Amino acid sequence: MKIAVIGVGYVGLVSAACFAEIGHEVIAVDNDPDKVDGLRAGKVPIHEALLPELLARHRGGRLRFSNDIQGAARESDVVFICVGTPPSYTGEADLSYVEEVARDLSSSLKGLKVIVEKSTVPVGTCEAVRRTMQLHGASPEDLSIASNPEFLREGTAVLDFLYPDRILLGVPDERSRRALSQIYEPLLDGSYYRTAGALRGEKQSLPSLIVTSVKSAELIKHASNAFLALKISFINSVAIVCEKVGADVREVAMGMGTDSRIGSKFLNPGIGYGGSCFPKDVLAFRSVAQKAGYDFTLLTEVMAVNEDQKRRFVTKVRDTLWTLRGKRLAALGLAFKGGTDDCRESPAIDLVKQLHAEGAEIVAYDPAAMERAQELLTLGTVTYAQNPYDACAGADAMLILAEWPEFLTLDLCQIRAVMNLPIVLDGKNLLDPVKVTAAGLQYYSVGCCPGAGLPPMRKEDPTWRATISEPTLDGVDNGSVSVSESIFEAVN
Ligand code: UGA
Repeated sequence: MKIAVIGVGYVGLVSAACFAEIGHEVIAVDNDPDKVDGLRAGKVPIHEALLPELLARHRGGRLRFSNDIQGAARESDVVFICVGTPPSYTGEADLSYVEEVARDLSSSLKGLKVIVEKSTVPVGTCEAVRRTMQLHGASPEDLSIASNPEFLREGTAVLDFLYPDRILLGVPDERSRRALSQIYEPLLDGSYYRTAGALRGEKQSLPSLIVTSVKSAELIKHASNAFLALKISFINSVAIVCEKVGADVREVAMGMGTDSRIGSKFLNPGIGYGGSCFPKDVLAFRSVAQKAGYDFTLLTEVMAVNEDQKRRFVTKVRDTLWTLRGKRLAALGLAFKGGTDDCRESPAIDLVKQLHAEGAEIVAYDPAAMERAQELLTLGTVTYAQNPYDACAGADAMLILAEWPEFLTLDLCQIRAVMNLPIVLDGKNLLDPVKVTAAGLQYYSVGCCPGAGLPPMRKEDPTWRATISEPTLDGVDNGSVSVSESIFEAVN
């Protein structure tokens, strides 16, 4: 198939590279000439695992870059719209980029064309695209406008694309259903996974194909993101109760998550969700409901809990150190989560600003996001360290603000040796409390008794860890999964 992908942000660039990987001819289009030149020259504009490898594999072959939207559309059978839909000041998604693409496409259409909306958009957007294109001269018979939302996560986007749980097609007619099914066939029938050189993922089962109406597909995307955000706000609220009654949220989450109706993923409490999707999408989905005449107050509460979670962490840091003025804090992690350099709506950035405003001196380290963080933090708010140990040198506390795997392998004794005070505040419940305390550090996390430093129920036995035993049907134990490992897997 010949595919044009309009917009090479996170979703567009990953989708373009992955479409090429599964065998299609792809033209990736962006109106930013510098970006296109950079991509042609081999630059990779985002930190995304496996993306550099895929771009190198297909650049100049099955994957080309262009800023000629009309030319690309003319050459292609299917056009994917992947432009940004940032929040407007009302909380609704700003669809002006989508509208611009619709206008540009209308004049280039010659004959039948399947147009697919892939950006996260409010319900009714495909209908609006069709209306706009007709207003600008496209003939109604030439148009088939479908919705094909993407569920990839930054940091694991390539494997999420190639090994999805489901492929969702919101189609208005047989033509778009057939075209999209053909595009995803190598994933749906598993032939991609059998090709030599196919990227290896961990998933064992083939993706489900879900075919719905266009409006249902548009809603599934918004509702899925809002539900995941709700799950996070729920466990963050449970974490507060845990702290108050002396329970351990990691145990509670594990106990809840093993119920297959609940599921263990997205039950990791922390400093609140961030990124370019959840904050924007919860807000936009509430606006969609409001416009339709329903006050979705549950979503208002999801957002309020998320904001409160950040304030609570600042309070925890302040309470632990008594006062913040003049205290030196090592902030490990600035991206909105581990595995990415994206700092949009990053809770870590918010926290750093708040702590700085209260007089703390912040030394920050992030494996990938320091350059992007500098665009969001005014000069002088933080100083940047070259590694976690330099960040912790002379620090009164070490804060974990993003779930980077490399923080799991820190030499905690070395950290203790360079710090001024032995205090760790883990905003992501990433570290193993037993190892942290064994290194002579006091450990404060989210949803465990403040200052306890060990799982609260069995303080007398520092080696004790809650585990899940998974016996197989023939009675042989499959092994145990420790709490922190299982939760870390859930986040990644
Ligand atoms: C999210 C969805 O997970 C994707 O399915 C979706 O395709 C994407 O938005 C999108 O709409 O484009 P992403 O924003 O990349 O993906 O990141 P997530 O892994 O979902 O994490 C979002 C935030 O929630 C992060 O700040 C993360 O640290 C936080 N989080 C996640 C938690 O606090 N606890 C958890 O258990 C999981």
